Amino acid sequence: MTLDVSRGTDIAIVGATGKTGRAVAAALDGVAVVRRLSRSAPDYPVDLETGAGLAEAFTGCRGVYFIAPNVNPDEPALLVRALNAAASAGVDHVVYHSVAWPYSPRMPHHMDKARCEEELRAFSSERGLHWTILQPCAYAQNFEAVLDGTAADLAVPYSLDTTFSFISLDDVAEVAARVLIEGPELHHAATYELGGPEALSVRDVVRLVEVATGRVVASRSSSVDEWMKLHNDSMSADEQHRLGAMFEFYDDRDFLAGSAVTATLLGREPTPVRALIS
Ligand SMILES: NC(=O)c1ccc[n+]([C@@H]2O[C@H](COP(=O)([O-])OP(=O)(O)OC[C@H]3O[C@@H](n4cnc5c(N)ncnc54)[C@H](OP(=O)(O)O)[C@@H]3O)[C@@H](O)[C@H]2O)c1
Repeated sequence: MTLDVSRGTDIAIVGATGKTGRAVAAALDGVAVVRRLSRSAPDYPVDLETGAGLAEAFTGCRGVYFIAPNVNPDEPALLVRALNAAASAGVDHVVYHSVAWPYSPRMPHHMDKARCEEELRAFSSERGLHWTILQPCAYAQNFEAVLDGTAADLAVPYSLDTTFSFISLDDVAEVAARVLIEGPELHHAATYELGGPEALSVRDVVRLVEVATGRVVASRSSSVDEWMKLHNDSMSADEQHRLGAMFEFYDDRDFLAGSAVTATLLGREPTPVRALIS
């Protein structure tokens, strides 16, 4: 991919120091000038709660990739604050990192992403900003420790038999980079749902790892309460509620998304989970 530099070279990633942001930054490295934004980012410290730093960080950028903090109770307000700063700074194209199935009334953080999508479209009508939305399904890398052998056991607070269209985070990042580099001429007003190549349950993933490596992975389904007791140290009550609702949804519903759009935007087949096992 080559960059048409007539619109500038710099792309800002909001949330660049997190799991998703690091992958998107890596995919853009060497193609565009990447500005990494977050509260802890050394060059572009910003706070989405107050707007501090956003105007300076966005000035001179051709595009912005917006990744919201995980299960934040205020995601639409954070996005609108960033959109105002981006439009005032003259940014032309905002790409919003949403999720597959945003309109899922049983999952409050998905519903907030549906609201964000609507805010983005409304903002674009009023202020002329160009937009694109990516809707990834669950990342295969959520199970990275099992895939790379760091963990020998796995407890998830939902059924081991629920199936997901796990997508490689690196494929999501490659699509994000393409959309940002090609820009609004090709991708304005597009919403791309991104699924991986096959529907797999956690039990299937564990079996793939065991067959490929000979390692034994002890997997089980725990209760949401048990999981929360182990992981709730730094989580607010609202964050716990949002995650708990997601786990309850996963316990009795599959979470699937097709892979044809992913393949088209990658220009190749999406990466299967078995290729991520080491
Ligand atoms: N995991 C999946 O399978 C999946 C699938 C689809 C969509 N998603 C979505 O992807 C998004 C990102 O997930 P992730 O796992 O990459 O999250 P993450 O690793 O927790 O990263 C969050 C990023 O946001 C920054 N941040 C947090 N609060 C901030 C604030 N007030 N102002 C500015 N920056 C702030 C963090 O850096 P600092 O703390 O330094 O500020 C960090 O860079 C979430 O919205 C999630 O719903 C995830």
